[in-house]
Amino acid sequence: MSDLKPADLAKDAAARAAVALVEPGMKLGLGTGSTASVFVRRLAERVAAEGLELRCAATSKATADLATSLGLKIETLDELGWLDLTIDGADEVDPDLNLIKGGGGAHLREKIVATASDRMVVIADKMKVVEHLGEFHLPVEVVPFGKEATKKLIERVLDGHGLAGRPVKWRNGPEGGPFLTDEGNVILDLYLGRIADPEKLGRDLSSIAGVVEHGLFLNICQLAIIGGEDGSVVEL
Ligand code: 5RP
Repeated sequence: MSDLKPADLAKDAAARAAVALVEPGMKLGLGTGSTASVFVRRLAERVAAEGLELRCAATSKATADLATSLGLKIETLDELGWLDLTIDGADEVDPDLNLIKGGGGAHLREKIVATASDRMVVIADKMKVVEHLGEFHLPVEVVPFGKEATKKLIERVLDGHGLAGRPVKWRNGPEGGPFLTDEGNVILDLYLGRIADPEKLGRDLSSIAGVVEHGLFLNICQLAIIGGEDGSVVEL
């Protein structure tokens, strides 16, 4: 990892600090995305160097594949039952450790894993730290059946939050067709700007039948480790 770009150095600094939180025998949740991938690589290095005994569950097929390729054994969350610690990335982190996640479309499994953990720690570079959530689009995982009706209901919710007319777009996959999550659902990205009341927005979105899960992670994360391009880290 010697040819890292500045942004990657920041992710690496945060990932290394998170690896130091891992203790022998832990049951660990592994997040998804580029920052979480750096963590998985650094974790695999430590496991190989120290012969650390761990049990890991992944938040996506992509992370499971990466971890397995690096020699980490992945088990299901049901096999592990409950986790000691989950380490994951985020798209936005506010000063109260509320998050937007789902830029990689994995927020459903990420939320299931994080909320089945004693502790969730986010790792991110400084660009992810915001005063208010919402500059990054908010991903909402939607069941394909009746998805256009679900979209209308989501837009109605946005009207009630003073966010009428904000762009709401179906996410495309790499091949140009609809992006499909690991659960076979589609994603609607909400371009909202500042979210005034994330708690109420989260509740209102969750009340729609076709909505599986939104990317607001409120009161779930206990610690954020923020990496700088100079290799420094600060904790929030
Ligand atoms: C995936 C996520 C990621 O953690 C989030 O998108 C951050 O990714 P990256 O570290 O690549 O910026 O929520 O669903």
